[in-house]
Amino acid sequence: MSTTTAHDSFAVPVGSYEVHLGTGLLDRAAEIIRTAAPAHRYAIISDENVAPLYAARVRDALPSGHTELFTIPAGESGKTREQWAHLTDALLAAAFGRDTTILALGGGVVGDLAGFVAATYMRGIPFVQLPTTLLAMIDASIGGKTGIDTPAGKNLVGAFHRPRAVIADPAVLATLPVNHLRSGLAEAIKHGAIADAAYFLKIDDSLPSLLADPGDEAMRALILRSVEIKASIVMQDEREGGIRRNLNFGHTLGHAIESESGYSLLHGEAIAVGMVLEAQLGERLGITAPGTALRLRDTVERAGLPHAVPKQLDPHRIVSATRGDKKAREGIVEYALIAEIGRAVAGVRAPDETVLELLLQDAHAQ
Ligand SMILES: NC(=O)c1ccc[n+]([C@@H]2O[C@H](COP(=O)([O-])OP(=O)(O)OC[C@H]3O[C@@H](n4cnc5c(N)ncnc54)[C@H](O)[C@@H]3O)[C@@H](O)[C@H]2O)c1
Ligand SMILES: [Zn+2]
Repeated sequence: MSTTTAHDSFAVPVGSYEVHLGTGLLDRAAEIIRTAAPAHRYAIISDENVAPLYAARVRDALPSGHTELFTIPAGESGKTREQWAHLTDALLAAAFGRDTTILALGGGVVGDLAGFVAATYMRGIPFVQLPTTLLAMIDASIGGKTGIDTPAGKNLVGAFHRPRAVIADPAVLATLPVNHLRSGLAEAIKHGAIADAAYFLKIDDSLPSLLADPGDEAMRALILRSVEIKASIVMQDEREGGIRRNLNFGHTLGHAIESESGYSLLHGEAIAVGMVLEAQLGERLGITAPGTALRLRDTVERAGLPHAVPKQLDPHRIVSATRGDKKAREGIVEYALIAEIGRAVAGVRAPDETVLELLLQDAHAQ
């Protein structure tokens, strides 16, 4: 479903916009931005790690005097109402009007926050995603979900606001810390597990080179296939009523573990554990083919990701945390599981006792 464009780059359509993918694309970002979201002024929003590395390359190619850089603190703690207010006030103070395009240059934190600023500024202005983490390239930048965290939980305040374009340059992954690279790989493994068994095998085979050389062809192929899978799912179900729920595989327990760990686990790390556990859960419920959890565990382990709940976490608290998840409908926790590698089954209701039993056994096995 992708189309090849000049200079060996690809454009994958996601409904009204395209994900552009290619090595060195950052230097040609201005061209794409000017076509997809022409504006009188451009506001680049980035974080303190990414801005010094890459912002100049984007800014210098856009009209000088019409482009300004706004930098937020790095990490999840920056995805707050306060930062949203701060950025919005800064844009207002600098007299940015409706004829502005916001450029979100960074990982998922920048994308979600800058996207939410764009969704709400003057009732909504265009934005372009320039994802710089693997997770943002294959997941967070696609699908139009934007938002912030509040003390009550992650992503509870937000809006659907589609980007005008997504521009992903895998070359920037060379500077990404390896734990974040692994975290992104967890989502790619998930894409294989829910939608494409051959892709799952391919990732498994190329793990050593993916980790050793993230700028390599294997990584480009991975990003392309994952973008295609996420794009195809999102296009069928933008608002998460049906097939989009498949993307939640590993996420019901994963989110619970992530929050119970006080976010000391990265998202992808928690999702890796969640996928292994949810495959075990599926096997117990007779929904998942026997042996699937072991295969997943093996791949996750070889990717350098954790596959068991950190010892200090209390299984009872994890089960309660699954109830606070947005996926709990009418007080019943629904899971998106897999029947086998490559085939998802969403909307599975699992009794708390079965989940607790599984977690207690997992704790005991360590
Ligand atoms: N909107 C969605 O559909 C969606 C989907 C999945 C995740 N998310 C959100 O994404 C966020 C996580 O995103 P993330 O994992 O990209 O984390 P992140 O944005 O915090 O980035 C990870 C770290 O890497 C640094 N960094 C980013 N790119 C770099 C590069 N090229 N070189 C060096 N350092 C770099 C960042 O400064 C940060 O310290 C979460 O808030 C999550 O809720 C959103
Ligand atoms: Zn995720």
